[in-house]
Amino acid sequence: MKQLKKIGVLTSGGDAPGMNAAIRAVVRTAIFHELEVVGIRQGYTGLLEKQFVPMESHSVSKIMSRGGTILKSSRCPRFVEAEVRSIAHDNLKEAGIDALVVIGGDGSFRGATLLYKEFGFPVIGVPGTIDNDIYGTDFTIGYDTAINTAMEAVDKIRDTADSHNIIFFVEVMGRNSGFIALNTSIATGAEATLIPEIDTEIQDLCHYLEYGRRKNKSSGIIIVAEGFGGGNAAEVARKVKEILPTYDTRVSTLGHIQRGGSPTCNDRVLASRLGYAAVTALLDGTTDVMTGQINGDVVYTPFEQAVSRRNDINQMEHKMAQVLAL
Ligand code: F6P
Repeated sequence: MKQLKKIGVLTSGGDAPGMNAAIRAVVRTAIFHELEVVGIRQGYTGLLEKQFVPMESHSVSKIMSRGGTILKSSRCPRFVEAEVRSIAHDNLKEAGIDALVVIGGDGSFRGATLLYKEFGFPVIGVPGTIDNDIYGTDFTIGYDTAINTAMEAVDKIRDTADSHNIIFFVEVMGRNSGFIALNTSIATGAEATLIPEIDTEIQDLCHYLEYGRRKNKSSGIIIVAEGFGGGNAAEVARKVKEILPTYDTRVSTLGHIQRGGSPTCNDRVLASRLGYAAVTALLDGTTDVMTGQINGDVVYTPFEQAVSRRNDINQMEHKMAQVLAL
């Protein structure tokens, strides 16, 4: 591989708390190794539009405590087209960029690996998404902050649910993955958890709620992952109400508050480690991989695996959540 002189960094897909700490780690590690760094604004969209900004050490000062991403982000559906990726490659070459660090989720990595496969362009990924759905890392950047945000919100909902004897259906994010739902549920003692990975019949949920009522539970929290196959929180609430018409029910969709806010210590540290590891790996000639952390160690997983496999929840923990909430 040709000697690295200049690297690019972008954030892509849904933003996640901690992305700024990852950008900072990439920029500062690169500068330490006497590389130039170019920030690419708005993800792959900015790459196509040549939204390039030179990054200095001070460009990333005091950003670690901020949510979102200072480079901005976007989803760029056009990037699936080979001609569009060719424009991206031309723009990288024209700007003198020798390698690219992509901070984002699996969709972003699918684009990155194609830049390598089609043009031999060195790329490396840093997993940033609140969903925790990426294979090759125990945790993705942003997930810890998101579950803490969801936990605090559900604690507050619990206060009013309990005061008014209400069954609340709380919808959380996570796309097709139940990590946010399951761990928010465990941490708040929710009465039930509906996740994409496990089929739950509404009838069974109703039996369970009735069981709780017989044990003098007057209120309850049902966490519904947005990807649950049986419908969203509003649909599930409607179906439950049809079967249990005397129950007072409400629906709360937590939505994008889960994506914002100051990152937790865990997310800042993880982002710093993985951003640092991404640049040092590029300097060693490693490419077409994603950095991750497994059992506390930094590891590198080929993009091919990272995008074709998924991080699975532990189904026993779903069972545990239910036992503990009985
Ligand atoms: O991937 C992060 C995420 O917040 C998912 O949990 C959610 O399904 C999706 O992005 C929402 O995306 P958007 O903000 O583009 O609607």
